[in-house]
Amino acid sequence: MEVAAIIFFLDLFCLLFLHKSCAELHTISDSQFLTDRDILVSDNGIFELGFFQSDSPENRYLGIRYKKIPVTTLVWVANREQPLASASALVFKIIDPGILVLFNNIRVIWSSNSTTESINATAKLRDTGNLALMDQHENVLWQSFDYPTEHWLPGMKMGNDYLRGIEWRLSSWKSSQHPLVGEFTWAAGKHGFPSFILKQGSVVKFRSELWRNQRLKGISSFSRNMTFSYYAIVNESEVYIAYNIENSSTLLRITLSSSGILETWGWVEGGKNWSLECHSLKISVIHTTFAVLMEAASLF
Ligand SMILES: *[C@@H]1O[C@H](CO)[C@@H](O)[C@H](O)[C@H]1NC(C)=O
Ligand SMILES: *[C@@H]1O[C@H](CO)[C@@H](O)[C@H](O)[C@H]1NC(C)=O
Ligand SMILES: *[C@@H]1O[C@H](CO)[C@@H](O)[C@H](O)[C@H]1NC(C)=O
Ligand SMILES: *[C@@H]1O[C@H](CO)[C@@H](O)[C@H](O)[C@H]1NC(C)=O
Ligand SMILES: *[C@@H]1O[C@H](CO)[C@@H](O)[C@H](O)[C@H]1NC(C)=O
Ligand SMILES: *[C@@H]1O[C@H](CO)[C@@H](O)[C@H](O)[C@H]1NC(C)=O
Repeated sequence: MEVAAIIFFLDLFCLLFLHKSCAELHTISDSQFLTDRDILVSDNGIFELGFFQSDSPENRYLGIRYKKIPVTTLVWVANREQPLASASALVFKIIDPGILVLFNNIRVIWSSNSTTESINATAKLRDTGNLALMDQHENVLWQSFDYPTEHWLPGMKMGNDYLRGIEWRLSSWKSSQHPLVGEFTWAAGKHGFPSFILKQGSVVKFRSELWRNQRLKGISSFSRNMTFSYYAIVNESEVYIAYNIENSSTLLRITLSSSGILETWGWVEGGKNWSLECHSLKISVIHTTFAVLMEAASLF
């Protein structure tokens, strides 16, 4: 089908669905899609994907946030470079051959750059916050965890996939409310043992030399109720570091702030807001390699 025809087709759908109420979906396919007021919910309702405002009421973003907490916290944004006008009719769906596409009533705003073609692909939001596009056999064709924005969530990798040519890295927002790509990036080096590098534009602000242990693995606690484990993988095909939260009733997220500081925020079950667990000022009280690694990044 030609793109013009697809868009016309979608326009009809938009008109037909303009007055429908908000729906909660668990899967997206070519026949089941998301419109303005719908949300895609992860199986256990931890995360949701939908259209949210951030910097101004006129701008909307297709993003992922925690579903159960009262403070809207976007952990991933698809169209960070192209906010959507609040008045436009929006459709987020899968088109053949297996591409996730965000349309407004005029054009394509964002699409996944899946490299493998697949008929009858579906997309789901995982309880980790990962939006995954899969073929009929549940093989992943594309996933949002491969294209992080400013958030490093539990289970997300930071490093390099040499086979697929993917660099898992963070890039800051322009300001605390504005998802547009900002000044800072936080990435592992491209070759050999990883050393984390914080850059402001093209200028290196900090380069860690701390991570030389191939078997880096451990547990770290910020407080009694905030414990996480971390591990590194170093082999020919990939190099990365990842972490997981031990207590599933707490939420933990690491974010590269718009001023270039790597911050760790925690949310204890029953809490009212995020609490800052770790940032540049606390270096003296955090002793593990991982924490020091993160801490050091903000000392420039
Ligand atoms: C895929 O899209 C991401 C942004 O979503 C971009 O950073 C990356 O370079 C793209 N990769 C290819 C192969 O086009
Ligand atoms: C895709 O799904 C449709 C409807 O469920 C089915 O008829 C068709 O055979 C599927 N295509 C492939 C290639 O499996
Ligand atoms: C979590 O730990 C912090 C510091 O150890 C403490 O102040 C806070 O009350 C704890 N919260 C809960 C819900 O246990
Ligand atoms: C590298 O490590 C990953 C994760 O453990 C594994 O899936 C992959 O097969 C490994 N690749 C090689 C070449 O050893
Ligand atoms: C997990 O956190 C909750 C709330 O702070 C606490 O009551 C519980 O004891 C913790 N569980 C473990 C295994 O640490
Ligand atoms: C939650 O904490 C953030 C960051 O400290 C703060 O900016 C925000 O106003 C707080 N929100 C509420 C509802 O307390």
